[in-house]
Amino acid sequence: MEVIRTVAGLRAACDTVRAGGTTVGLVPTMGAFHDGHVSLLKRARAEAGLAIVSIFVNPTQFGDPTDLSAYPRDEQHDLDIAERMGVDVAFAPRVEEMYPPGPVGPGITVDPGELGERLEGASRPGHFRGVATVVAKLFHAVGPCRAYFGEKDAQQIAVIRRMVHDLFLPVEVAPCPTVREPDGLAMSSRNRRLTPEQRSAAGCLFLALAEAAELAKGGEREAARLVAVMAREIGATPQARLDYAAVVDEETFTEVRTIEGPARALVAARFGEVRLIDNLLLPPP
Ligand code: PAJ
Repeated sequence: MEVIRTVAGLRAACDTVRAGGTTVGLVPTMGAFHDGHVSLLKRARAEAGLAIVSIFVNPTQFGDPTDLSAYPRDEQHDLDIAERMGVDVAFAPRVEEMYPPGPVGPGITVDPGELGERLEGASRPGHFRGVATVVAKLFHAVGPCRAYFGEKDAQQIAVIRRMVHDLFLPVEVAPCPTVREPDGLAMSSRNRRLTPEQRSAAGCLFLALAEAAELAKGGEREAARLVAVMAREIGATPQARLDYAAVVDEETFTEVRTIEGPARALVAARFGEVRLIDNLLLPPP
């Protein structure tokens, strides 16, 4: 596996293999690999000629400086896993490489639009601008490729799909299923910051989503009823503080009153200082 630290190096590696007819698969990450990341690496390895992982803790998507400094970093561990998974290239740039200082002023960013302001965007102002900007930079550096993203961050996928569509980016977005712990908790690098009590309480997120899914399967179409059930489950958990529970249309990612087509239930809650999110595609009745 080759470790590349510069944008120019990454671009050259991708251009060279594409010129020979090889397809490129990209897995953007912030490192601190767990089995969720590994599932994306496996899929990229299986499908692409050249499998690339990017490892970059993107400062512009963190509103909270403590969250950024507390973000786990273990590059050698991540590189070892990537190598074992058969990844060809790890792109691990420094902050100055991804955000080189320009002339005065705040610089140009990608506006994630209205989609970037709801739900996660409302709770974390500026988050999706940071995500869209860094992912656009990665896409421009890599060039035409298939890029793999986890459904755990469903709104992130919606924002990136919209960006690819609106800005004509030559990228195919490939969503991958959420990998979970045995109690249903979605794997996340933030889970390791939970105390044992918070860790067992965090199971309430998946329980809430599973209850909503059960109701939807039974024919419940009123989103407010599903939201109430999810809020009650999380609200009844002592260590949890609900941030939001919502049901959105799978295509538009807008909140729905009545479920008429494919819809997704979403939850976000805090366990002490740690904020976790999860979601589930609702089954048809
Ligand atoms: P990060 O949180 O490291 O996640 C990298 C990728 O792994 C994302 O696509 C995320 O959805 C996916 N992922 C995380 N947990 C998962 C799980 N339990 N199951 C399946 N996939 C999972 O998301 C980011 O980084 C950043 O926002 C990034 C896109 C890299 C931009 O900085």
